[in-house]
Amino acid sequence: MSRVRNAALQSKIMSAQDAAALIPANSTVGMSGFTGSGYPKTVPMALASRIEAEHAAGNPFKLKVWTGASTGPELDGALAKADGIEFRLPYNSDPIAREKINKGEMEYLDMHLSQVAPAAWQGFLGPLETAVVEVSGIREDGSLIPSSSIGNNKTWLDRADRIILEVNSWQNPALEGMHDIYYGTALPPARVPIPLTKPTDRIGETVFRVDPSKIVAIVETDSPDRNLPFAAPDASATAIAGHLIEFLQHEVKLGRLPAHLLPLQSGVGNVANAVLAGLAESPFEQLTAYTEVLQDGMLDLLDSGKLTVASATAFSLSPEAAADLNSRMEQFRGKIILRPQEISNHPEIIRRLGCIAMNGLIEADIYGNVNSTHVMGSRIQNGIGGSGDFARNAYISCFVTPSTAKGGKISAIVPMASHVDHITQDVQVIVTEQGLADLRGLSPKQRAQVIIANCAHPDYRDALKDYYDRALKGSYGLQSPHLLTEALSWHQRFIETGSMKP
Ligand code: COA
Repeated sequence: MSRVRNAALQSKIMSAQDAAALIPANSTVGMSGFTGSGYPKTVPMALASRIEAEHAAGNPFKLKVWTGASTGPELDGALAKADGIEFRLPYNSDPIAREKINKGEMEYLDMHLSQVAPAAWQGFLGPLETAVVEVSGIREDGSLIPSSSIGNNKTWLDRADRIILEVNSWQNPALEGMHDIYYGTALPPARVPIPLTKPTDRIGETVFRVDPSKIVAIVETDSPDRNLPFAAPDASATAIAGHLIEFLQHEVKLGRLPAHLLPLQSGVGNVANAVLAGLAESPFEQLTAYTEVLQDGMLDLLDSGKLTVASATAFSLSPEAAADLNSRMEQFRGKIILRPQEISNHPEIIRRLGCIAMNGLIEADIYGNVNSTHVMGSRIQNGIGGSGDFARNAYISCFVTPSTAKGGKISAIVPMASHVDHITQDVQVIVTEQGLADLRGLSPKQRAQVIIANCAHPDYRDALKDYYDRALKGSYGLQSPHLLTEALSWHQRFIETGSMKP
């Protein structure tokens, strides 16, 4: 049976090629998709073929592409390969697009994920000609059943001049009812408090409402989400999880956290996923999550009953976990709520709920400034994602990382961060496999001592201490002592020799 249950809209069903032909050259397209789930698959591929043909004929054709966050090879990969993206926002992890960005061939605006939809409504991003959004079905009344991510879809559907829908029958029909689409946002001065006080609260509708006259094409697909495997937690990740769980237990003992903790936020990546695996082994019970993505570790926690509910904007699963979830979606229905990313990542709600934020990092400096995005200060890895939304507003903001990268050639703790996404005020706990630095209430100089002693790898600890001691003597000021001619020399050494080691 067709997933397009609205009789009038069935007349809009067409091929991906015909739908892609409706997208104007050199325009802006708002696509669905968040961490590899719920992104359109066939229209972007057809669009990439069209762009290649236009380029071969000597016609310029580049798009501004907006999404929720990262997508998949059929979208970012195919369009980047076709040289079809002029400008991209707000988060990317596709390797081809990353390469183009780092070669200076694609403009990339890396934004706080909570701010994308408001910025679009405020008119700050310019016009949006087309929305291309994956849904899991269209109901009889024309409302849209969302897919495995919500991201910015509501905003793209509301703001775009025309809408192309991909109705993906690979998505489980049991997704229907899992979503909570809040229609109460407004621009200042009409903005009102968001009435969400618990992760379990439902404040919106389970479907998107759209103006049917804007729907110009519907493409039926049956394609899986891009689900990438997570690395199995290694000794380092397990040690990080152990330190963090010990810290949380200590906080409960001191009465600074309730016994069931506060809503957890867990970032993207292998290390964050490993921390969740560690929580599964911990004595904590009846946990809740108010987070951005649901990874394998989160599903395991839900499965075991350790986690009672998880609110997010998207799934970010390995192929095995996605298949498992698909086969048992009904069991998770009461436990998972998917929301627009402006709500899942909303600073007001994160601050109110008191989330415990746990995010990965590229490097931290001895004063606790964190770089989440730029390798050697200039090469983008992925983007800031929601880490800023959560870090600034969390009850306790934790960052987790192995103490070294690239086989020990890079220290994750450096004298001065080569790029700063999270200022020292937004960073309260740093955890590596070496140990945990609790930075709350500490001045910069006190922070430096704890970070060097507890978090740095032994191969780099003495050099960091030596830098700090000399900075205490030779710095221009002594609030955050630095030797400016030397502060970034570790990065320069890596660029020149392939290692930060002297
Ligand atoms: N220098 C160079 N490369 C580094 C590095 C450093 N200091 N630290 C990490 N990397 C590289 C790793 O080598 C690895 O590269 P590879 O894929 O080529 O092997 C890659 O970054 C991922 O690192 P890994 O150690 O596997 O950690 P991760 O998967 O947990 O990712 C981040 C770490 C920082 C890249 C990731 O957490 C991220 O993109 N964060 C920003 C967005 C965010 O926090 N979102 C969450 C909001 S909800």
